[in-house]
Amino acid sequence: MRPARGARAQTTAVSLALHVVPGLEDLASRWVGQEIPTADVERAWRDFDERTSLLPIHLDREGDASSAAEVLLTCPLAEDVFATALRIDDVPPVFAGLHVVRDAVAHDPALTAALDVAFKLHGAVRRVTYRVICRTAGRHSFRRVDLQRAVEHGVTQRFPSWRLVEDAARLELWVVLAERRLWLGVRLSDAAMRHRSYLQASLPAALKPTVARAMVVLSRPTPDDVFLDPMCGSGTILLERAASARHARLLGGDLDPAAVDATVTNVGPRHKPISLQRWDARQLPLRAGSVTALVCNLPFGRQVGTAEENRRLYPALQRLPILLRGLPTTIYVIRRVQTASRGAVLPRPRS
Ligand SMILES: C[S@@+](CC[C@H](N)C(=O)[O-])C[C@H]1O[C@@H](n2cnc3c(N)ncnc32)[C@H](O)[C@@H]1O
Repeated sequence: MRPARGARAQTTAVSLALHVVPGLEDLASRWVGQEIPTADVERAWRDFDERTSLLPIHLDREGDASSAAEVLLTCPLAEDVFATALRIDDVPPVFAGLHVVRDAVAHDPALTAALDVAFKLHGAVRRVTYRVICRTAGRHSFRRVDLQRAVEHGVTQRFPSWRLVEDAARLELWVVLAERRLWLGVRLSDAAMRHRSYLQASLPAALKPTVARAMVVLSRPTPDDVFLDPMCGSGTILLERAASARHARLLGGDLDPAAVDATVTNVGPRHKPISLQRWDARQLPLRAGSVTALVCNLPFGRQVGTAEENRRLYPALQRLPILLRGLPTTIYVIRRVQTASRGAVLPRPRS
């Protein structure tokens, strides 16, 4: 891991970055290390908002940025991919800080290098439309919208022909200001990256596909897996398992017929052999030892079920690991640790 670099604009060599769901930083970082061995993944920026962490990625050789970006765009654990356009490590938290940001946007060569990556990937256009998305955390005497305006003024100064739009912008500049540290990235991905094309039918309480994939990765898939999601909802976990590696069989079901229908729609004719049916996870029609991995997103008792129902449901699920054979894995996602310990349904890592 590389420590944060020094103050002010640092380099014209392009760095990239991922946005990931908090909690997925280490898995995503490992994925990058495997897929791009020359990449150097910096410690994640966390806690600037509850939905996102930022994973800066530095590349060894100049000129690698576009091909590395293409690899990152296939990362199943990331929400978005960016070319880093600016890093400033000491933005004054007062109004003068806005001038620092505006001037860097107006003049820093790293922004041009990041834009080159975006245009190389997606093609250049004559008339650029853009928008700026800002997140801030910490104490500043200016507002988030002031920061946004400062970036926009810098852009206007540097690229007078660019047009600011609210939606459907050709370019998106995303800014994170966490205390005094600023990062600005040119977005290389679009919404398809995180939403997945297989999601034709969706239900409330569906997992983010990236989180489902993280759970699948933790189950350490092998080609002989008989993989079970006993409360599959719209099938996100099963579909991420299917996309991650070969399997011997996928098994899924749900108490709610609408959920089973949604999974059938999302799976389509693919991923055989797969068995989907309506069932009660407390009484599954499966033999002991017939499953090798069990991954499930339990109802939290908010969008699906109630706390009262969960007090009965969770203890009944203690019997589920009996289904597992060999050195199995059981991974649940649960909302509150208190609920888990009361229900005594706890993750059992593969030893
Ligand atoms: C949080 S949702 C799962 C969402 C799913 N992972 C997805 O991404 O679409 C929990 C699911 O558990 C199902 N469920 C609740 N009690 C159940 C039971 N006793 N047996 C089977 N399914 C149950 C609900 O119908 C709901 O679809």
